[in-house]
Amino acid sequence: MIDAISFNDKTLRYLDQRYLPLREEYVSTRDHQEAIEAIKTLAVRGAPLIGVAAAYTVILGINSFKGTKAEFPEFFGTLITDVEASRPTAVNLFFATARLKKVYDDHYEADTIETLFAKMLAAARKIHDDEIANCDAMSRHGVELIKADLADILKTRKLNVLTHCNTGTLATGGSGTALGVIKLAWQEGLIERVISAESRPLLQGLRLTAWELEQEKIPFISISDSSSAFLMQRGMIDFGIVGADRIAANGDTANKIGTCAHAISAWHHNIPFYIAAPVSTIDITLSDGTQIPIEERNADELRTIFGTQVATPTTPVLNYAFDVTPGKYLRGIITDKKAVVGNYVTELKLLVE
Ligand code: MRU
Repeated sequence: MIDAISFNDKTLRYLDQRYLPLREEYVSTRDHQEAIEAIKTLAVRGAPLIGVAAAYTVILGINSFKGTKAEFPEFFGTLITDVEASRPTAVNLFFATARLKKVYDDHYEADTIETLFAKMLAAARKIHDDEIANCDAMSRHGVELIKADLADILKTRKLNVLTHCNTGTLATGGSGTALGVIKLAWQEGLIERVISAESRPLLQGLRLTAWELEQEKIPFISISDSSSAFLMQRGMIDFGIVGADRIAANGDTANKIGTCAHAISAWHHNIPFYIAAPVSTIDITLSDGTQIPIEERNADELRTIFGTQVATPTTPVLNYAFDVTPGKYLRGIITDKKAVVGNYVTELKLLVE
């Protein structure tokens, strides 16, 4: 049983994903700076889990506060700024800090500092519980849509599904977004094999998705990111499904770098390609994907492979962590509330209201 993140006795405990699958190392901390570092370094990662980790990091921060009630607003403002500076793309992080800021805004005046902190902890736990429940709802909606879309193939055989990055328990704390849909579809006997793209440079697909699928005993095969178009051409992929880090109001979706190439290939080959993400990943304030902040990470992530230098230290590198897939390439966006097909502008707005 994977325990991606937990919070008990004022302590945050997480599975350090940087060492998987070779080493299963759990880290416990009461230090919010250490927790911020864990988010920055991808020790904890995946949009929904980043949101949960950010919420508990704020709780670690407030637990370390030793000042008077009058001194708290300045401390809290700096704490939120530090947590929000950890990773820019996954909007779930900002969704989590906004929820805790609202508890502060609503209760700071009337409550004692102890009562205020207790309410914030309850809000953080609710974010965690909600993400777990969201995965189950999303999986159900996703399986229904896939059954309907791929009914003709399912009359004669099971399906081969492409996924990218890691979107399972490690990325959510629950069963997963895209991987949650895949797990339920497998349980219902719809899946022949999962085709898992490695997700260069940090290999979330090759290391983490493979590890989860092995534990679930779901048949899979890992491929390099650049193989998907060829496999589609050969009829080896029936549909694609991935998660999201931020979805703009028109359905344009930021996800792990490489996603857009899979989606365009799928569109070219007339293969349905889906996004699975909780409503907390929709950023209705951005009209389209050009406005989504895209994280650019350290060049050494590309110039080295797990510590081994593979290019000269002076090789110029562009290391975007995410890309944006235009909504037109997506067959549907599967959320915890419903699966949206077609008119994203109207439907996504209704979902967040
Ligand atoms: O950089 P990461 O590993 O945090 O990126 C994760 C992804 O891109 C996932 O596909 C996305 O967060 C959806 S997770 C349920």
